[in-house]
Amino acid sequence: MQFHFYPIAVAIVSLLFSQAIAPPSSGIKSRTAIDDSVSKQAAISLQGALNNIGPDGSEVPGAGAGFVVASPSKVDPPYFYTWTRDSALTLKMIIDEFIFGNTSLQSYIEDYIHAQAVLQTVSNPSGTFLPAGLGMGEPKYQVDGTRFNGAWGRPQRDGPALRAIALITYSNWLIENGQPSKAKDIIWPIIANDLSYVGQYWNQTGFDLWEETQGSSFFTVQNQHRALAQGTQLAEDLRVTCTGCVQAPEVLCFLQSFWNGNFTVSNINVNNSRTGLDGNSILGSISTFDIDAYCDSPTLQPCHSTSLANFKVLIDTFRETYSINSGIPVGSGVAVGRYAEDVYQGGNPWYLITTAAAEFLYDAVAQWKARHNLFVDETSLAFFKDLYPAVQVRQYNSGNAHSPFVEIMNAVTAYADSFVAVAEKYIPANGSLAEQFNRDTGAPLSAIDLTWSYAAFVTMSQRRSGRFPRSWGSRNAITPPATCPTSSLSTKGIYVPATAAGAPNVTSSCQVNVVFNVNASTYFGENLYVIGSAEDIGAWDVENALPMGAGGYTSDRPLWSVSTYLDAGETVSYKYVRQENCNQAWLYETRNRTLTVPACGGDAIMQEDAWVGPGGAAGTC
Ligand code: NOJ
Ligand code: NOJ
Repeated sequence: MQFHFYPIAVAIVSLLFSQAIAPPSSGIKSRTAIDDSVSKQAAISLQGALNNIGPDGSEVPGAGAGFVVASPSKVDPPYFYTWTRDSALTLKMIIDEFIFGNTSLQSYIEDYIHAQAVLQTVSNPSGTFLPAGLGMGEPKYQVDGTRFNGAWGRPQRDGPALRAIALITYSNWLIENGQPSKAKDIIWPIIANDLSYVGQYWNQTGFDLWEETQGSSFFTVQNQHRALAQGTQLAEDLRVTCTGCVQAPEVLCFLQSFWNGNFTVSNINVNNSRTGLDGNSILGSISTFDIDAYCDSPTLQPCHSTSLANFKVLIDTFRETYSINSGIPVGSGVAVGRYAEDVYQGGNPWYLITTAAAEFLYDAVAQWKARHNLFVDETSLAFFKDLYPAVQVRQYNSGNAHSPFVEIMNAVTAYADSFVAVAEKYIPANGSLAEQFNRDTGAPLSAIDLTWSYAAFVTMSQRRSGRFPRSWGSRNAITPPATCPTSSLSTKGIYVPATAAGAPNVTSSCQVNVVFNVNASTYFGENLYVIGSAEDIGAWDVENALPMGAGGYTSDRPLWSVSTYLDAGETVSYKYVRQENCNQAWLYETRNRTLTVPACGGDAIMQEDAWVGPGGAAGTC
């Protein structure tokens, strides 16, 4: 690839590179030198991800075949679990690498298919697989694929969408390589369950990818749309029916509502005091990137004007947030974190989001080059001004090496490279990638060897060297209606265990939806569970009690809530129980309660209770 620095970018990039990674006496580190460091780090990163996958991953003894462990870190933070999101994003990277030619990776894909077919059927605190797919909203499991029973931000509705995207990508490869029946008989049943889930629940709130905020998350909705749109296409190719896919235009319509005129509000339908500026939005656009997309596509690609405007506003917040970014001028890359108000593990920049910022820019450049033009409008003007001050609101067509179009492409590419340089500056010599790096010193911290950090470095390096997954068909996505409909926003899913891929043939007793609501004032760090005689609420074993959520807790109403399914017609005794913050004894309600589940086919019931029993007290741990 030819590379011409735009003069201002040269000054900025050279300043940065000389601080960052250049040997003491040299000036600018050449693009070739960065090429070398990026390809070395990409190789380390691919291996780093594989080391965290069972059964043979060197860092994760005990993990089952095909299960991707988030990090080998067992305490502080405890990440020795398998998250559906991290796993699907990692496998999407592996599937793309496989398609690009790394055939040695196929066994990881095969193991993943089997592992996920089983996992879909595992009952967990988000619910059961049958009859209604609720269990698939569970964010994480033990590394052998069994349920995790602790309190958590659940459900998280991006998991099924991301898994479907990974599996659809692989299925398309199988079709093109003469194995359509494998795609149809073995993999489609898993995808069909995931798309059923998306079509049924996309319009309900859930926890965001950072597992903190209950509401509607841009990242989730954007991936849900891609899954349904791409699933529609695959279902046609395989001549099968996709239940849920009809929701795609509705989801795309909803996606438009995250834009507030200045930036993408990453979490809406929430009750928190954040601005909504969040790396969520960058990650969403790179996950749904389509090299063939038009830049005005409502799928909100990296090259879309609102995505670019949002990128600038968001990145500028991090310029002020972290002291390691101080003095870096606009138009030059910085360390990027989740969101400015973040306090988790100290609220620091993340490797995977810093490299995602670079990937986003490489994606946008690739899209403009593929379209041979660029439309700068009032919305995107400020983004370009930082990089190419002479920019105007107009159309730029591709031209020779000194054309403004090419100069703008070079400036945006140099900007992308400058984010890579920042990431590399803070990567230790052995290439290991933790989750975060210290906002003041740049030292790595939080979970070590984070699989997602490694996967994100690999995808960034592929985009940087001009390698893109094939189009997922964004051009064929049905245009959303001008005004979003307010009814028919859900399609009842059809859930069938994917037995051909190895799922157990689970069956369901007839169950009815029961919602437990209890008012219970708690201190921060204390959690509530429901426990009772029915198997689904722990059969009086507190280790299996059903965790409740505090997403609706306000100062006016201390509401804890959980929605579950219980066997039709049974009479159940239950009570609420408090889990204390420092492993003190559980605190039980002092009375037993009773409910009778309606007969099969009956309507959902809601228990409205108020805590009766001792209040909790925070420990000192
Ligand atoms: C663990 C989650 O994984 C992380 O994203 C979150 O910030 C913390 N819990 C605090 O809620
Ligand atoms: C915390 C992150 O916020 C979340 O997105 C991720 O899934 C888990 N850690 C595991 O890596």
